[in-house]
Amino acid sequence: MRISVIGCSYLGAVTSSCLARLGHDVTGVDIDPRLVDELSAGRAPFFEPGLQDLLSEQAGTGRLRYTTDAAAVAGSAVHFVCVGTPQRMGENAADLSQVDAAIEALLPSLAPGDVVVGKSTVPVGTATRLAARIAEAQPEATLVWNPEFLREGFAVEDTLHPDRIVYGLPDGPAGARAKLVLDEVYAAPLAEGTPLVVTDYPTAELVKVAANSFLATKISFINAMAELCEVAGADVTALADAIGHDDRIGRKFLNAGIGFGGGCLPKDIRAFMARAGELGADQALTFLREVDTINLRRRDRVVEIARQVLDGSVIDRRIAVLGAAFKPNSDDVRDSPALDVAARLHVQGAEVRVTDPHAIENARRTHPGLTYLAGLDEAVEGADLVLLLTEWREYVSLDPAELAKLVRTPIVIDGRNVLNPRAWRDAGWTYRGLGRP
Ligand code: UDX
Repeated sequence: MRISVIGCSYLGAVTSSCLARLGHDVTGVDIDPRLVDELSAGRAPFFEPGLQDLLSEQAGTGRLRYTTDAAAVAGSAVHFVCVGTPQRMGENAADLSQVDAAIEALLPSLAPGDVVVGKSTVPVGTATRLAARIAEAQPEATLVWNPEFLREGFAVEDTLHPDRIVYGLPDGPAGARAKLVLDEVYAAPLAEGTPLVVTDYPTAELVKVAANSFLATKISFINAMAELCEVAGADVTALADAIGHDDRIGRKFLNAGIGFGGGCLPKDIRAFMARAGELGADQALTFLREVDTINLRRRDRVVEIARQVLDGSVIDRRIAVLGAAFKPNSDDVRDSPALDVAARLHVQGAEVRVTDPHAIENARRTHPGLTYLAGLDEAVEGADLVLLLTEWREYVSLDPAELAKLVRTPIVIDGRNVLNPRAWRDAGWTYRGLGRP
């Protein structure tokens, strides 16, 4: 099928290259020439496992091209909208300007029978509004809402082999026709037996934010338990293992630590609260305010522990921060808890030295005041305190005895509860986890 993908950042770059892999003929469009140049040259514009290989592979097929020319979408039968919906400056609500601009740019090229597929995460009600706008310009085109659930770090895998596919369709023959078109787009994952949920626009929009709210709630739940474990002298990791054996609860997303960040969970729960308020249902989501508060409180707690282990003050103390990305296997630093903690310690007068395998360049752009070191050894050299804040594999597998030779004082705060406390203590370290005795 001829498909266009509008917006070629995280979501669009992965979606476009995966659609090409599925055998479609894909045109990616973005207003950012840097992004288009990189993708056109077959280079991944950000670090995402598997994306570079996929782009290199698809570059040779002639089925994947990128352009800044909005008119290049003409002739495609299906148009995926993959632009960002960031948090509005100074507000909880989502900024929909990119979605609106993408639809406006698409309208002149829409032909009868075309299907527009919304993938961006939007406040409930947006699809109905956009469908009306599309109908004004091209009454024979149909909008489908088809949220994505990809996780950074696994984005390619999640897109090629999703755990479910959701179509939000309008009623009647137009919806039925659009369903057949999407079934063809997703023929390969559907043939693998991927569950398909067919529903209406508002349900499809809500599925995405409900899923992310549940995940955020699960993380904040276990972080609240960590707070209790801290005062009761209990171990939240053993607690999580034990409750996780109940398959109604499950062990996934019960890792206590410095909490969630990234381009999705924090802004999605805030936008969801804002939208609920507009709809007069704000009470239904007041618990999400607590989820957000618990999450942010973990960052304060790490700073507090740092101050404690350094005898009351971080001023002029050298602190090595391992990890800047919001999670491992990503160079994304949007709302990164690790960088936020590093910045807070810096503001309080510590000499903070940050390292990360892939995220330094992005971190330097958002937090230019911090000191960055490419090598782990240089970052920990002479440190009074080591903070593990993003659980990259190379940090989790560090040899505590070797690391002890580089630092000034062997004190570690394990912000992700991924180190073995006994091994670190045996190697002479003062070990502090979050919610662990
Ligand atoms: C999330 C959703 O998982 C995905 O389905 C959706 O499409 C986009 O948002 P992502 O932002 O890539 O994906 O990250 P995710 O793996 O969900 O992690 C989010 C944050 O939670 C990270 O900062 C991570 O470190 C943190 N986290 C995760 C925890 O603190 N504890 C856990 O147990 C799991």
